[in-house]
Amino acid sequence: MQTITSVAELRQVVGLARKAGKRVGLVPTMGYLHEGHLALAEASRKQCDVTVVSIFVNPTQFGANEDLSTYPRDFQRDERLCRDAGVAIVFAPDNKEVYPEGFETFVEPGELAKPLCGGFRPGHFRGVATVVCKLFNMVQPDAAFFGQKDFQQCAVVRRMTKDLNLPVEVVTLPTVREPDGLAMSSRNRYLNEQERQRAVAISRALLAAQDEFRSGSRDVRNLIAIAEKHLKPLDKLQYLELVDSETLEPAESPLKRSATLCVAAYIGSTRLIDNMTMDLPVSIGEGAG
Ligand code: PAF
Repeated sequence: MQTITSVAELRQVVGLARKAGKRVGLVPTMGYLHEGHLALAEASRKQCDVTVVSIFVNPTQFGANEDLSTYPRDFQRDERLCRDAGVAIVFAPDNKEVYPEGFETFVEPGELAKPLCGGFRPGHFRGVATVVCKLFNMVQPDAAFFGQKDFQQCAVVRRMTKDLNLPVEVVTLPTVREPDGLAMSSRNRYLNEQERQRAVAISRALLAAQDEFRSGSRDVRNLIAIAEKHLKPLDKLQYLELVDSETLEPAESPLKRSATLCVAAYIGSTRLIDNMTMDLPVSIGEGAG
């Protein structure tokens, strides 16, 4: 495994692989890797010949009062996990390499970036879209792998890739969860023992709503109310919304299209997000022809 910090060297190494006809996969991360990231690397390894994991805590996606300075970092551990996972290249640029002096061009996502997290983290998806676009240009992968836990991020990145004609296949993989259901996240590390126990309320709420949906309920208010009952152990609910899985607009009752229940909540000072998609069974005849 190679660790590369400069775009010039990365281009050279990846360029040679591409010339040799190899398919290149990118797993963009901010480090402090967990099983979720490793599942993305594993998928990339299966679908591509060369897997690049980027590790860069991107300052432009953090708001002024957010956790940029305290975001968990452990580069040596990340390198070891990547090596064990069969990753070919760790790309770990510093801030100056990604945002050199004079940098002033951003990617501005549209409507998909406005609801949910977009309403509470102004500029967040602008920062995400910008850095992902830059990483796509730096690495020039054939495919890039993202986790469904960041549901809105996946939607924004897919839209950007399409709108800007970026020749990258965006692959989304299911959320990886702890045995009790908590979605894996680097930010789980902020939770003390008591907070960690309460955090499971998030996935319980989503699962309760999904059970209700599977039992036949298609009523948006009912599904949200079922979830809400389970969220009492959390300190502050930022949003709990059932949205159309494609447009991210509020879902309408009765549900007729795939919808995703999304939640953002604080436990102590830690903000966690999670979501669960409710897919309607395809009825006979649908999709035929
Ligand atoms: O999901 C993340 O870790 C980040 O938002 C990403 C995609 C690496 C961009 O900084």
